[in-house]
Amino acid sequence: MYGITGYSNGYHQNQQQHSSEEKRGGGRRRRGGRRSRHPPGFRVSDHHHHYYNNDDDDNKQEQKAPPPCTDFDMAYFHSYAHVGIHEEMIKDRVRTDTYRAAIMQHQSFIEGKVVMDVGCGTGILSIFCAQAGAKRVYAVDASDIALQANEVVKANNLAEKIIVLHGRVEDVEIDEEVDVIISEWMGYMLLYESMLGSVITARDRWLKHGGLILPSNATLYMAPITHPDRYNDSIEFWRNVYGIDMSAMLQLAKQCAFEEPCVETITGENVLTWPHVVKHVDCYTIQHDELESVSTRYKFQSMMRAPLHGFAFWFDVEFNGPTNSPTNNHIPSLLTGASNNNHIDGIQKKKRANPNEALVLSTAPEDPPTHWQQTLIYFYDPIEVEQDQIIEGSLTLSQSKENRRFMNIHLEYSSGGRSYVKESVMR
Ligand SMILES: C[S@@+](CC[C@H](N)C(=O)[O-])C[C@H]1O[C@@H](n2cnc3c(N)ncnc32)[C@H](O)[C@@H]1O
Repeated sequence: MYGITGYSNGYHQNQQQHSSEEKRGGGRRRRGGRRSRHPPGFRVSDHHHHYYNNDDDDNKQEQKAPPPCTDFDMAYFHSYAHVGIHEEMIKDRVRTDTYRAAIMQHQSFIEGKVVMDVGCGTGILSIFCAQAGAKRVYAVDASDIALQANEVVKANNLAEKIIVLHGRVEDVEIDEEVDVIISEWMGYMLLYESMLGSVITARDRWLKHGGLILPSNATLYMAPITHPDRYNDSIEFWRNVYGIDMSAMLQLAKQCAFEEPCVETITGENVLTWPHVVKHVDCYTIQHDELESVSTRYKFQSMMRAPLHGFAFWFDVEFNGPTNSPTNNHIPSLLTGASNNNHIDGIQKKKRANPNEALVLSTAPEDPPTHWQQTLIYFYDPIEVEQDQIIEGSLTLSQSKENRRFMNIHLEYSSGGRSYVKESVMR
């Protein structure tokens, strides 16, 4: 905890040593490899924390004890202490410029108000909010990057306005409600990292009725793809290596290349149909239990004859004001043809209605690339599909029981009279 006395960070030194086993954090990957190694010896105490709770506000949920901060969570936060991931995120201009534009678009709401930045990292979004005229910003981060954020804040003479709290949002305490919650919580396939749960916790603990959440909603999409270059490069390559038949390597190559989801950039040309909405998230109303498992059934009709290599996933988020939020207007999804995620809606439409001209941060293949790229689940063997051929099945994304930052993916697909199942884990 930094700054004002009376704000607790929830962190306490602890003599207990962690196991020597290294665990992956489940956070975003830096280019060139996976991040995160196990941090040495500190963890959240398990004593009971007092929660500020406004009894006058019917919308406030009764606060439950926060989930324990597991070794996996510690590894996750440790991964965010590395400068590389913050550099990559901040250099992602699509991401950072859209957040700044969204903050400035809502300047009249933010001016003179209290903001909480859930997972402030280096503090960049908190500083944008201060520049937009926020009265006070609580910049919360459980990673040691909060130490740097505090230095950045001081160096920019914003220590009066921005209070950096080094701790989990689930554990810190503040003595007032907030008007605005801002957070960059989106992981690969939107839900990987499971950080949205922390935004829900912050919302339920501190957001005033009528308050603003940025981003306000998010949508995860999937679509079938063809990617012959990728398949040839990783698999077909083994058929003739310097004139040697290395086909004996094929099975292993498929297993190694395609067992886990791949974070890669594709283009609109790889995509065989309009996408299907896997999940629409309204940040004003989404509940924790909705995130434990997300299921959808899909049905696509291929727009061309091509080898089907797998499915691509991407997401977008919108920055609506509170009055434009689908929740507050009690209207369904802004996405046409996607009103019910649990049923086949026929062939999905791609373009959003977006009547509010909300800013959209998109990670779609046809849009400018971001550090999220797209997530690909490849089949071990391609399926030859004809134009108009149906590709259908179901998908379940669930938080791993072992480490809720990881995501279990159960994919069923059938086409041309054959059915398949693929299980994978995003870790
Ligand atoms: C994707 S980064 C975003 C950083 C910064 N807001 C930005 O936009 O550059 C997410 C940050 O949230 C922090 N974080 C994730 N879950 C958190 C939690 N429950 N409490 C506090 N910080 C959290 C991570 O440590 C990480 O620094």
